[in-house]
Parts: sequence; structure tokens; C-alpha cells
Amino acid sequence: MFSGKRILLGVTGGIAAYKAAYLLREFQKAGAEIRVIMTPSATRFVGTETFSALSRHEVAVDVFNNENPSESWTKHIHWGEWADLFVIAPCTANTLAKIVHGQSDNMLTSTVLAARCPILICPTMDGEMYESPAVSANLTKISEMGFYLLEPESGYLASGIEDKGRLPEFGVILKKSVEIVKKHAIKGPLTGKKVVVTAGPTREFLDPVRFLSNPSSGKMGLAMAEAARSLGGNVTLVHGPIQSALTERFHSESFVSADDLFELMKKHADADVIIMAAAVADFKPATSHSNKVKKDRGNFQIELKQNPDTLKWLGENRKTGQVLIGFAMETEHLKENALAKLSKKNIDWVCANNLTEAGAGFGTDTNTIYLLSKDTEKTFSGTKEAVSREILNFIFPG
Ligand code: CTP
Repeated sequence: MFSGKRILLGVTGGIAAYKAAYLLREFQKAGAEIRVIMTPSATRFVGTETFSALSRHEVAVDVFNNENPSESWTKHIHWGEWADLFVIAPCTANTLAKIVHGQSDNMLTSTVLAARCPILICPTMDGEMYESPAVSANLTKISEMGFYLLEPESGYLASGIEDKGRLPEFGVILKKSVEIVKKHAIKGPLTGKKVVVTAGPTREFLDPVRFLSNPSSGKMGLAMAEAARSLGGNVTLVHGPIQSALTERFHSESFVSADDLFELMKKHADADVIIMAAAVADFKPATSHSNKVKKDRGNFQIELKQNPDTLKWLGENRKTGQVLIGFAMETEHLKENALAKLSKKNIDWVCANNLTEAGAGFGTDTNTIYLLSKDTEKTFSGTKEAVSREILNFIFPG
């Protein structure tokens, strides 16, 4: 029902917060990936640990993390971008009022403002509260503002009274969620396709404190991932050690070494489209020391051995219809080297760039890409985001 779909579950401080844990499980059983945002008062009803254990992801509560100030405070932007649907269940009268008035005093209300995905609100409260003039007015306003609303059901409430105010049955919430997700699904040339994008450098450790790597920032891979998503692709980002909160926008998996990347990508060999933008080290130290190498040992030589070539392996083991896109970073004979990579690695497209060209290559915000296939050649220049969109629009015309 929700295979490949990402649902952000917002939990606010009402007694039905305990039911949100079961709702999460129902979404998971239906195939969804879940992240949870709680309001501070919701944590008085259920612990964050319950939701982080069930969702297998950290739970966001505060915009600023006092315990870990270095942590990104921009989750509301990135998680809102990550989700296909934001379900707030239960939603208290207080959070409802804040949303109607555009307040952003906690992570949940901030994410509501930042989210571009559809939002489903499931108000639950005591019957008297539900019928109060203020709540009635807010419910009317929130529907007019374009939010989806699921009316509470009647039944036995925590106050001991039978009235309207209960969280609807899970089946009802799931059915409404499916309808909304279907209605809002991006219809593009990559809709329904599994797209895996690799980004960033690898690290090849010599000892616990030293490694061989390269200056890749991962920006090009992230831009390709964003472009693939805007064409409807169901994107998985497989990234190396990069300093970017943008990874939060995707379902992501991380690697350190070329060996790790190889193992991860073997599991993704069934993808419909693979974009290998990662800057993979071709070599690793033949010996990796488990303890720090001390300097009193004097001069010594490091023997290097070859890493597995993930893209070549993917080319040799490709499934029918799969599109393989590689990158080539060159300093000379750009076209010849890039063309050689096409056939050597048995791939469909190669995005080649020249490291010595101004505004191209590692860490820059811009790039010039020579896109080559066996019978096509095209050049794109501009920001990495614009170039990525043009490349994918060219390869996958709508
Ligand atoms: N790549 C890979 N595994 C490696 C090396 C590279 O999967 N061990 C992928 C990169 O992600 C990129 C493409 O192969 O998409 C080209 O990588 P590059 O290092 O430029 O090419 P090589 O074939 O390694 O050739 P050379 O280093 O000799 O230019």
C-alpha cells in the first residue's frame, strides 16, 4: 500500500498519543518508512524512545537541541522535503490553533510551515472542546487552507464520557492517507522507478586516525538525487562522509570505504536507474593498522591495492532495462577517456567533467558536464542543481 513511501508522523499531547505508536506500526506493515516528530507535551504521554525504537530513526521534538547544540536545527525544512505525507495524529486543539495561525514554536509546528507535502490532520479531544466555537472555527479554517482533515469518531473518551473526539480507527486513517498520497504523487518519467544515487568521497583507512580520500563534497550527487526526485523517482541516496544536512531529505544509507559502497550497491543492483556520482578511491592501503602508527618508526612505504570497481560490477551484472549513469573526472583527454569508460564499464551514460576547468569539479557550486552516450554528446553548464535537472530531463524526456 505504501511501498517506497515516506510518512512523517506528528504526535501531539493528547491521551491518544499512545495510539500513535500502533498507528506507526500499521503504516510500517503497509510498507511505509516513518519518521516521528513530537510536541514537547506529547512526550509526557509517550517517551521519545518508544517512537525512535519503532521508527528506527531519531525523533525530533525541539528545534534547538540543547544536549547537542552542534546538531542541525534545520530538520523542519529537510524532513518536510523528505516526506510524501505528513500525518498529525493525534492533533490537539492547541496544535490545531497554532497551525491555523501559522505559529512555529516547536519542531512540529515549524515543520508544518516548511512542508511542501500534503498534511493530514486527525483532531482528537474531549467532545465539549471539539464543539467549542474556537475549535469549530479553526476546523473550518484549516480545511479552507488546504489541509486534509479526518473527523474524530464518537465513542468512549478518556474523560469517561461517550462523545465525538476519538482518534479514527487505524484502517480509516490508512485509507485516507493512501488516497492523499496517490492524489499527490509526482507524475514524471521516473514515477514508480527505483533510483539509487551515490554521492561523496570514500575513506580508505591506514590506521584509526589516517585515511586516503579526495575533496568530493557530495554536492553533485545530492543535486542529481533532488533532480531524480522531481521527475517522480523513488530515490535512495547512498552517501559517503559528507557534511551536509541535505542528506536528511532522502531515504539515505551511508558508506565509508569503497568496499562498503560495493557491498551496499550489490543490494541495490535491482534499481531501475543507478547514478554513480560518488568519488570512489581506486586504491586502499594493502594493510590497515588497528593501532595508530607511531612516528618513531621513521620513514616507511605504503603499499596500495586496488578497490572493487562498483560501477564496472553493476555494468557486468545489469538487469534488463536498467539505466546506468557514471561520472568521469578527468584532467586531460576528457572525451576519449569518458568514451572509454562507457564501454569498459558497460554503462549507458557518462557525465564527464574536467577538473582543470574553472567552475567545475570538487566542492564548487557550479559544474560543466559533457554528457556522453554511444551516439549522443551534449554539454551542460551552470549550478550543479540546474545541470543535474538538465541531464536527467535529457536522458528521461517526459
Ligand atoms: N567508480 C566505482 N568504483 C571505483 C571507481 C570508480 O564505482 N572503484 C565509479 C565512479 O563512481 C564513477 C565512475 O566509476 O561513476 C568513474 O570513476 P573514475 O575513477 O573516474 O574512473 P576509473 O574507471 O576508475 O578510471 P581512472 O581512475 O583510470 O580514470
